[in-house]
Amino acid sequence: TAIYSAGLSGIQPTLPVDFATLRARAEAAMPPSVLNYVQGGCGDEWTQDQNAAAFRHWGMVPRMMVDCTTRDLSATLFGRSLPSPLFMAPIGVTGIVTQDGHGDIAAARASAATGVPLCASTLANDPLEEVKRACGDTPALFQLYTPRDPDVAASLVSRAEAAGYDAIVVTLDTWVTGWRPRDLNVSNFPQLRGHVLTNYFTDPAFLKLLAKPPQDDLRAAVGTWGATFGKVLTWDDMGWLKSLTRLPIVLKGICHPDDASRAIDCGADGIYVSNHGGRQANGGIAAIDMLPAVAEAVRGRVPVLFDSGIRSGSDVVKAIALGADMVGVGRPYSYGLALGGADGAAHVLRCLLAEADLLMAVNGLPTLAAVRRAGAVRTDR
Ligand code: FNR
Repeated sequence: TAIYSAGLSGIQPTLPVDFATLRARAEAAMPPSVLNYVQGGCGDEWTQDQNAAAFRHWGMVPRMMVDCTTRDLSATLFGRSLPSPLFMAPIGVTGIVTQDGHGDIAAARASAATGVPLCASTLANDPLEEVKRACGDTPALFQLYTPRDPDVAASLVSRAEAAGYDAIVVTLDTWVTGWRPRDLNVSNFPQLRGHVLTNYFTDPAFLKLLAKPPQDDLRAAVGTWGATFGKVLTWDDMGWLKSLTRLPIVLKGICHPDDASRAIDCGADGIYVSNHGGRQANGGIAAIDMLPAVAEAVRGRVPVLFDSGIRSGSDVVKAIALGADMVGVGRPYSYGLALGGADGAAHVLRCLLAEADLLMAVNGLPTLAAVRRAGAVRTDR
């Protein structure tokens, strides 16, 4: 309401309220290496482009004569009540985006301010315990890039559990990094700087693998990290993953309905449909186009999380209509962080929610359940 009323009164917003202008402002503000890292995708970025473009061939049909004076966007995830189904997808190395190098803390503060949960990345610049504290009372998820060393994996998971995270999100599609020409073409690729490995460099099991502390031999520490990164997971590892924690395990990167069914059979507590925002495999179809079949296979047995291509509030509503329980956003909040730190990210989240709320109002859909029942229609135009 605040954003809308300000707009109608002619008060200029501090940051743009639409994605295209936000992205343009962020492009102008970010140094090229940071911009390439955040914005880049795999190959010629066809899949990344498709992710956003595909929302345009799904449409909603408005319904009239429904009292929508109040809307209820509330959701629940693993027993926690949330004001909305929106969450922040994990973004590693977020520290390079903000001026002070603490992008993860800034994202966590945006989470605390908006009630939009953060899924904190393994590759955060800030230790996972501090990130969780900065989330305040808002629930938070911890994303795991599973290390090859089982002790380091167990240690990261138990730290996340001890810190109070509500679930572990295991990313399946990144045991090796995809072919990202924009990163490869940039000589000062910021990810190579050792400080991005904060969660490893603060981890007792990881430090045991080093002959010297990271500050004494950064090159060796980064080398050891490289050698332990990226366990190749198979279905046989589900029992082991489950044994590491009492927290729910969500599998991120599931796109095929058969994989979703298998995941649930193997004990997954949540299915996260995502193609990593087109950063890992080029040539794949848009993530939103895979969502309906996965949601159908899941049949409500576990929550379905979704990300890849969300750029507006109407995209959020369409994702719910197509079967998501929770909707994640990646690059847009990163642009908000770049332009305004925690406030900038909170602004982006609030704009997405405000648009979603108004769309539900004018479409005669007072609740998320009504959105789901209404569904979305595929159009080739
Ligand atoms: C990511 N993503 C990601 N995923 C993950 O599981 N762990 C991570 O550390 C990262 N890091 C990361 C960095 C950057 C710069 C981006 C843009 C993305 C993928 C992310 O969680 C999510 O799947 C996509 O960003 C969703 O697509 P959109 O919203 O960016 O289109």
